[in-house]
Amino acid sequence: MHQVKASDTKLIERLATWYFEEWGIQKERTIARLANIPNHDVLVQLVLKVGNRIVATGGLHHNTGLTLIFPKYKALSPWIAQLYTDKPYRGKGYGSLLLKMLEEFALKSGISQVYLFTSTAEKIYKKRGYKQIERVKYRNAENVVMEKNLSK
Ligand SMILES: CC(C)(COP(=O)(O)OP(=O)(O)OC[C@H]1O[C@@H](n2cnc3c(N)ncnc32)[C@H](O)[C@@H]1OP(=O)(O)O)[C@@H](O)C(=O)NCCC(=O)NCCS
Repeated sequence: MHQVKASDTKLIERLATWYFEEWGIQKERTIARLANIPNHDVLVQLVLKVGNRIVATGGLHHNTGLTLIFPKYKALSPWIAQLYTDKPYRGKGYGSLLLKMLEEFALKSGISQVYLFTSTAEKIYKKRGYKQIERVKYRNAENVVMEKNLSK
């Protein structure tokens, strides 16, 4: 497990490409957010490596697309955000491992409550103890906003 830092220029570009391809997030935006961690948006960004291959990533973020659009969610933080496994490596447990690592990082940092939203992976999170707060339409899709108390 690797914690992204400012000097990881090539790695950050790779993550920006993944996020652009998956969600259409402009690469410059990802690069700006990850180039200087921790910052007001990003508490930590983790990368899972298998051998020398980067297979998955995800972060604990204070601000997400959802918090920018819906001010009421600004009160909630941090968010398990932008969990992504590279396509050839999906279904091998890497996404779940990364999620667990992010939860452990949060706990070690004294954070016992985390949040997320998803339109695609509700089942994965439900199975891992996340509970629905509410459903919200965001970027033309039905999303569920979820929370988990890590200390239970
Ligand atoms: C969601 C995502 C991160 C899961 O990563 P992953 O490395 O495949 O996850 P895992 O191998 O740990 O599998 C997690 C669960 O998803 C299931 N799964 C993984 N790939 C699957 C596939 N192609 N088809 C169906 N189920 C799949 C696994 O069986 C597992 O099920 P379980 O909860 O019953 O154990 C990955 O599919 C991804 O990057 N998707 C695109 C981005 C995305 O939607 N991110 C989530 C945003 S909130």
